[in-house]
Parts: sequence; structure tokens; C-alpha cells
Amino acid sequence: MEKEIANAAALLQQADGLVIAAGAGMGVDSGLPDFRGDQGFWQAYPPLAKAGIRFIEIANPAAFEDDPRLAWGFYGHRLALYRATVPHAGFDLLRQMAARMAHGGFVFTSNVDGQFQKAGFADEQVAECHGSIHFLQCSQPCTDAIWPADSFSPQVDMAQCRLLSDLPRCPHCGEVARPNILMFNDGAWLEQRSELQLDRLARWLQLARRPVVIELGAGVDVPSVRRQAERLGAPLVRINPRAPQGADVGLAMGALPGLRLIEEAWRQGLGMSASVKVQRVPDRRKT
Ligand SMILES: NC(=O)c1ccc[n+]([C@@H]2O[C@H](COP(=O)([O-])OP(=O)(O)OC[C@H]3O[C@@H](n4cnc5c(N)ncnc54)[C@H](O)[C@@H]3O)[C@@H](O)[C@H]2O)c1
Ligand SMILES: [Zn+2]
Repeated sequence: MEKEIANAAALLQQADGLVIAAGAGMGVDSGLPDFRGDQGFWQAYPPLAKAGIRFIEIANPAAFEDDPRLAWGFYGHRLALYRATVPHAGFDLLRQMAARMAHGGFVFTSNVDGQFQKAGFADEQVAECHGSIHFLQCSQPCTDAIWPADSFSPQVDMAQCRLLSDLPRCPHCGEVARPNILMFNDGAWLEQRSELQLDRLARWLQLARRPVVIELGAGVDVPSVRRQAERLGAPLVRINPRAPQGADVGLAMGALPGLRLIEEAWRQGLGMSASVKVQRVPDRRKT
């Protein structure tokens, strides 16, 4: 493992820009649940387990039509949870690593939890490919409007997974508002906010000549983050306790301990003496 850590530090040290690709596992060391299949999801939401409701059935625009208080019971709880969560120290380590590179860093994440911004990353440095729970849109949708969820403070009965407070409403037509998140079977998600972020990422990638990707907590079931991390054609460090395979350097550990070890190796100059053979040929035209 020491060799892998030194190799990871070596890849980071030679880079001029840090792409941070993060899935739900990135939040686990802050105490957040990931959703590994229905079992993981049901452990986090026992009332939905009792009712036999699967993730795919609640993370669905139809749920906002059929039973908006149940749908908002689930999403309202998550909104409050993400607002209350303190991002773990690994987020700061990533900011420090990026700050040492000529072009800084950029985040690509399928997480909707806003934890990178909460940890001090600028909005302009983050691309949220599945949207953000901190923004709302009309459930119909009647317009293209996307607005911050700041004034919505959901009160949720967790035993029943139901929203107790008023449902958020679209200010334009009065219909129920929903999170601006890509759900399953979702033809109504408004993607303009995410598209703008992805355009910014593409522009940033034109600047960095020697980018490196550090991927953290990205699962294999909905592999959007893993695929994007691989597609960039840059050296890839993958941190994942269960699925670290397929990268130039794979660390089978949690995000926080992995980042601490890489940071330490970097500080001690261990990366300088390591020689890691990179499998990927950088070809940023693929993005
Ligand atoms: N926090 C969030 O915003 C959140 C949470 C759950 C799901 N989602 C959504 O659901 C989908 C889930 O896909 P996913 O791949 O992100 O999540 P996933 O739950 O499918 O996979 C999580 C991955 O994290 C790894 N992991 C577990 N503990 C870890 C740790 N301590 N450090 C690092 N990695 C760890 C697991 O091995 C797994 O591979 C996405 O589309 C996402 O939008 C978002
Ligand atoms: Zn509307």
C-alpha cells in the first residue's frame, strides 16, 4: 500500500490541475449514507423499508405527483441532513492540494448534497452532473426557472417519512416544487444549471496541460462519475474501499484516510522518488 500512496503523490505532484471526481462515498466519512442498492438505502430510511418502497420508486418525479408529502419526506430529510452536515477534513486537504497546482482544481460530482461548496469550494469550481438538492424547480415544469431552496425549511416526521410543514410551491403556477435533481425516469429535470457548470469545467480543462484526476467514493451501479473520471484520459487515482480497480493507482480505503496518507506522502516528498507508469494517454479532446 505504501507504494500506491507514493505513486498517488507522484501523480499529483507532476500535475498542473486537479480534477476531483466524487460519488456518494465521499460523504461517508462526514457521516452521510451512500445508497449501495436497496439494502443500503433501506438502512438509511427504515420507514421506506417497512413500506417496501425502493430508492428507484421514491427518487422519481411520479412520486411528487402521487404522494408529494412522502416524496418530500424523503428529500426534505436529506435537505436538512446535508445542511446540518460538516464536511470532513478530506475536503480541505483537496482544496490545499488543488491550491498548489498552477490551475487549481475543479470538482465533478454526482452528489446532490452541496458538500463541496459547504467546504469552501467556489460555485465556479463545481459541476454537479445530477443537480443539487439546494435548488428547486416546478414539478410540471411550467417554466425553466431554477431557484435556491434557502427559504424552504422542511419539517419531517421521520417515523412516517412524511413532510409535516407546507409543501414548497412553484412561484409561477402554484404547483408543487421539486428538487432540481435528476431522478429515475425523469423527463422533467431542468438541466440548464448543471449544463452551465459542465461548460465551465470544459473551459477549465482547456487550460490545464497536465491534469490529474482523483476519484473518491464513486460507485459501480450508476457509474457516471467513474466513466467521466476515465474519459478525461488523464492519470487517475481512485480511492474506494470496495471498488478501487481499473485506475493508474487504486487505494482500497475510505476517502479521508486515503487523502491524509497522500497528503503526508506529498509533504515528505515520497512522490518524488516514486515512478508510476501511467496507462492513460492524455487526450483532452475526448471531453
Ligand atoms: N450524497 C449525495 O448527494 C448522494 C447520496 C446517495 C446517492 N446519490 C445519488 O445516487 C447515485 C449513487 O451513485 P454513487 O456511485 O455516488 O453512490 P453509491 O452509493 O452507488 O456508491 C458509493 C461508493 O462509495 C464507496 N464508499 C463507501 N464508503 C466510502 C468511504 N468512506 N470513502 C470512499 N468511498 C466509500 C463504496 O464502495 C461505493 O463504491 C448517484 O447518481 C447520486 O446522484 C447522491
Ligand atoms: Zn410551475
